[in-house]
Amino acid sequence: MASLEELLHQRLAPAFEAVAGAPVDPVIRRSQHADFQSDATLALVRKIGGNPRDIANRVVEAAQLDDLCSSVEISGPGFINLTFSDDVLTRLLADSVGDERLGVPQAKAPEIIAIDYSAPNAAKEMHVGHLRSTIIGDAAVRLLEWQGHTIVRQNHIGEWGTPFGMLVEHLLDIGESEAAHELSVGDLNGFYRAARVKFDNDETFKDRARKRVVLLQSGDETTLRLWKTLVDESKKYFMTVYDMLGVRLTEDDFFGESYYNDQLQSVVDELGELGLLRESDGAQCVFPEGYKNRNGDPLPIIVKKGDGGFGYGATDLATIRHRLRDLHATRLLYVVGLPQHQHLAMIYDVARDAHWLVPPARAEHVGHGSILGDDGKMLRTRAGKSVKLVDLLEEAVVRASAVIAEKNPELDEETRAAVARAVGIGAVKYADLSTDRTRDYVFDLDRMLSFEGNTAPYLQYARARICSIFRRAGVAAPLPDAEKLTITEPAERALVLELLGFSSLLAEVSETLEFHKLAHYLHGLASVFTSFYEKCPVLRAEGDVQQTRLVLCDVTARTLELGLGLLGIDAPDRM
Ligand code: ARG
Repeated sequence: MASLEELLHQRLAPAFEAVAGAPVDPVIRRSQHADFQSDATLALVRKIGGNPRDIANRVVEAAQLDDLCSSVEISGPGFINLTFSDDVLTRLLADSVGDERLGVPQAKAPEIIAIDYSAPNAAKEMHVGHLRSTIIGDAAVRLLEWQGHTIVRQNHIGEWGTPFGMLVEHLLDIGESEAAHELSVGDLNGFYRAARVKFDNDETFKDRARKRVVLLQSGDETTLRLWKTLVDESKKYFMTVYDMLGVRLTEDDFFGESYYNDQLQSVVDELGELGLLRESDGAQCVFPEGYKNRNGDPLPIIVKKGDGGFGYGATDLATIRHRLRDLHATRLLYVVGLPQHQHLAMIYDVARDAHWLVPPARAEHVGHGSILGDDGKMLRTRAGKSVKLVDLLEEAVVRASAVIAEKNPELDEETRAAVARAVGIGAVKYADLSTDRTRDYVFDLDRMLSFEGNTAPYLQYARARICSIFRRAGVAAPLPDAEKLTITEPAERALVLELLGFSSLLAEVSETLEFHKLAHYLHGLASVFTSFYEKCPVLRAEGDVQQTRLVLCDVTARTLELGLGLLGIDAPDRM
């Protein structure tokens, strides 16, 4: 089913082309003065000259709009204002009631999309930056999969760098079973810090750690076994966080740094053959064009270090090559904090220079900001340690449970627990996704859990209220009956228009991955619904009017449920 914008586009594009003699994008957008407006005349006049209102008139005359629009007007310096006929709106609404996808089409050209997200570091506590990456990446997975793309989830955990020399030595010092215990209960930071303290203060330990890295990278069996203990225990712990969050990441999605180990030398060889490698301070480097350090010297990606070891950059080059060449992905998403922007841009440029990244394939940094404490600094506990993620999530659920108990004391215990989880976790996710992802935000549970404002509980409650309308009416969700839908009030019309905007909004978000726009849409929809519900009684209405209003309630509830679901947020039927 075409979106409203597409319908207008289909009619106006040929008309503009006829007038201009060349293709013109009609630039359709929502308008204050009508349903939509086309702004294309102005740019066209700058190109071909003439009087804007005149040109707009000619476009309107050339366009076939009678069967779509009840009014077409030219305003100001040549805007074309377009208002849909009620009949068209009710027909489209009827189409979406009967459609599981609510009228949202599948992607026209399905792709293989590799999404790199979450990516915490083994034997180290997941921090709130990884929380953001996990939440945003999960929303991208859900949305793009739902649009019909094939998604490859890639959890690029850090488990192969130099720190693992010191971590394995520390594990040997305290004993394997003690280490496994510390890691499985999630005391990752304690473990990491203890190793670090020894590394910084004890020369013999430091020496052992260095030798251990060499053993690890050269594939020594005992070392690998010990390393694997560290990594496996960490993975188990990460899985508990993912389960708690309700994200789609599974055990099978761990493609950590070590996965690429035996591809690293071949990356060096290939870059060498292409003439892209240069030696610098004993290391093999690539210098993609246009990156400079503070002194104005060219910046390298170090591919192979002087001591023969490989680093983060080499691994990322092997990773991007693998995704393009072996997985045949044509869209690569990296959901990673903004501080790594330059590193990723350099990786993409090298991949382009090496002819791995060739259009239509493209790589995008889905960058995100940080989560701050109420002091405006990186979120920390009072003791100054970094915050443990599970503690935050648990607190959110406990607080949600209290809020729900107060709001609806009649819920039985089991329902309340389920609702508290949906609301607590949903609130944390929504606070993240409703913020422009490139910005920082303050982690404030009071605000996140509020039933007022742009929050998950507000939207979840809006939907639950609609469910209760159906319960009270004693009717199941209405069957579509296109003949009977009728618009009698402006508030109904406003709601239909809002609902029919879902499809083009999702198309936009699939491109930009700006989930705050989906959040903003859902919040707007809930407000438009509230005005509708205040002005248009549903249960007291009759006949076709009631049928139409029930359809509007139903489609609103389903749009909220689907939209929240795409953000990874559950919507309970009662709360
Ligand atoms: N483990 C890294 C970190 O914690 C993030 C990895 C992001 N993905 C990548 N392909 N570099 O900073």
